[in-house]
Amino acid sequence: MYTSRVTGLGSYVPENVVTNDDLSKIMDTNDAWIQERTGIKERRHIKKGDGNSTSIMGVKAAKIALERANLTKDDIDFIIFATLSPDMYFPGGGVRVQDMMDMNTIPALDVRNQCSGFVYAVSVADQFIKTGMYKNVLIIGSENHSGGLDMTTRGRAVSVIFGDGAGAMVLSRNEKDDGGGVLSTHLHSEGAHAKELSLEGPSTEHWVPEIIEKNDQENITYYPYMNGQFVFKNAVVRFSEVINEGLQQNNLSPSDINMLIPHQANLRISQFVQKQFRLSDDQVYNNIQRYGNTTAASIPIALTEAWEEGKIKEGDVVVLAAFGSGFTWGSAVIKW
Ligand code: UT7
Repeated sequence: MYTSRVTGLGSYVPENVVTNDDLSKIMDTNDAWIQERTGIKERRHIKKGDGNSTSIMGVKAAKIALERANLTKDDIDFIIFATLSPDMYFPGGGVRVQDMMDMNTIPALDVRNQCSGFVYAVSVADQFIKTGMYKNVLIIGSENHSGGLDMTTRGRAVSVIFGDGAGAMVLSRNEKDDGGGVLSTHLHSEGAHAKELSLEGPSTEHWVPEIIEKNDQENITYYPYMNGQFVFKNAVVRFSEVINEGLQQNNLSPSDINMLIPHQANLRISQFVQKQFRLSDDQVYNNIQRYGNTTAASIPIALTEAWEEGKIKEGDVVVLAAFGSGFTWGSAVIKW
């Protein structure tokens, strides 16, 4: 059986910076509340006319990852695209990337697992490489949240948190015999809590005509809903469980972690997890302060930045961990 290793990373965020003060001009919120509860100082939003979309941002991140992997688009065997905000209701973002990058007629799979989407995608890619079916897989996490948020006081508990951006990874067959690469992935779900963090419509439960007809200001189904405290409580428990699962599988202890890249849901959640595992500041990477929560894009953006800053070196143990809507959660343990 083969193993897989990371050969390239890239990220892209739109230029348009939206600060907490900017938001406080359009809704009843303030910098102190947002920073205290989430750690977020600013986020990026696509600006009308800046030429970005979920798949276009994905392509920009992917091109950087490919170049760093010393590969061309023609070396890629499979595209996996993780997003909750595809350009179109269907088809997904993967096929748009295949078209925009003028790639061969390789398969393109969309993963709809929200904040855990990237970890799920890494796991899927790893399985295909292990069996020998594919050699180089392009994995993209990209989100365009800003256009779909309720930017009024009514939606403030959700809309101040989310930002736009994309990250990409090339996962390749491991040609070195050094025990490195993806060591394990663990995935979970608990659909009983599907509605606690969800966007219900437009969908087959809430078709567009129904939404137009109702125009019900009290029961908005076309903006995301989040039961914040419930999600928070579940997140801290599941993050810890799934990181432990990965460590135990590989006979590792928390002190063996060189870099934990948690999904950037809330700085308080990352700090809680850091404390639980008694990790130092050097062992955890956070950039939610600058980008907010970018859902499926948050892990690849953070991983790329940590690597660019020289914080991940060959032989390091890197742990990716995510929790989010579904509920879904997962971890990946990688020896760099
Ligand atoms: O990435 C997927 C996973 N997502 C998460 O893990 C998110 C988990 N949850 C959270 O991060 C937190 O629950 C939030 C940051 C979303 C909210 O923080 P909280 O401490 O749970 O606040 P809360 O919802 O309990 O609201 C406290 C107060 C409320 O006012 P009252 O009822 O106490 O008067 C809210 O109306 O804060 C108010 N509030 C705001 N005030 C200013 C809610 N949003 C805002 C806002 N600005 N943006």
